[in-house]
Amino acid sequence: MLKKLEEIKSKAVDELNRIADLKELEAWRVRHLGKKSELTQILRGLSSLSVEERKAIGSFANDAKSVIELLYKQNMETLKEQFYQDIEATAKGGKKGAAAKLDVTLPGRPLPLGRLHPTTQMLRQICDIFVALGFQVIEGPEVEWDYYNFEALNIPADHPARDMWDTFWIDYENERGERNMLLRTHTSPMQIRVMQQTRPPVRVVVPGKVYRYEATDATHESMFYQIEGLAVDEHITFSDLKGTLYEFAKRLFGEERRVRFRCDYFPFVEPGVEMAIDCFVCGGKGCRLCSDTGWIEILGAGMVHPNVLRNVNYDPEKYTGFAFGLGLERIPMLKYGIDDIRLFYSNDLRFLKQF
Ligand code: DAH
Repeated sequence: MLKKLEEIKSKAVDELNRIADLKELEAWRVRHLGKKSELTQILRGLSSLSVEERKAIGSFANDAKSVIELLYKQNMETLKEQFYQDIEATAKGGKKGAAAKLDVTLPGRPLPLGRLHPTTQMLRQICDIFVALGFQVIEGPEVEWDYYNFEALNIPADHPARDMWDTFWIDYENERGERNMLLRTHTSPMQIRVMQQTRPPVRVVVPGKVYRYEATDATHESMFYQIEGLAVDEHITFSDLKGTLYEFAKRLFGEERRVRFRCDYFPFVEPGVEMAIDCFVCGGKGCRLCSDTGWIEILGAGMVHPNVLRNVNYDPEKYTGFAFGLGLERIPMLKYGIDDIRLFYSNDLRFLKQF
């Protein structure tokens, strides 16, 4: 038996000298250390031997096993090193050994590239236009007080104008039992916050999410983006409003755009207007996009209401201003003919990848 073990050992060593790569080494390991190898069989059979035999053969067999295992580890290291050297050599132009089969010049597997969400792209584009016109970009809270969202904007409690905004109220009551916290229904509350914190001149745009308690459909989402604008100073007139928004429309929709202002009602401005651009698909002749009117409404605006100025302690005899607000998703919907607002926030890559 001892002779047999001696043979096993020398055979293993012998074979090892002829091994050239990792694959052959693995086969060698299976042959000499694997479950079916002679050595393993002998070690398994030890229990059936007498105590003395077991001692003698057992320790010899275990020695043989340690030697073979050690050789395996050493060779593994050497071959691995060799393998990497070969790869390097191949990369440098030469070809050698196992790695010659590995073509490191093959292009890698392409990883899908991420990109900015279409809303973010549009938001940045619009803010850039206003920054170029001298406006600052500011953000504000999405959870708001009734005071900022309505009250200070000249929309008192119980005023029917509140029906213009279907509101998500927060489940919270103050010490007087009033539910006065909500998800902002528009970005206009930031007009108040900004004016409370600074004195004129004020020129800001406020992009951000707003929320409406609304059944969703192709044109309504319960969450969407708005961009608010506010300019307050001495001697600001309606011409400033028109000039600024006309410039904005041209920069966003093309130099040849025409604009139309019509009266509209928003409690925090007087007069209030709705601005439309001539349809960029049909040039004003009338088509599907503009519902045959030739015009597309893109935002609400107006001269800041004196009550709003009073609410932030600005003297309406001294200061005037204009404000505007636009729904962000509407712009790419018009520009790219997207017919369902829900596509923006349903995380479907087939949609998002197009921008
Ligand atoms: N906040 C209004 C809305 O959500 C939009 C708006 C209209 C904002 C007129 C303004 C404005 O600043 O002057 O419907």
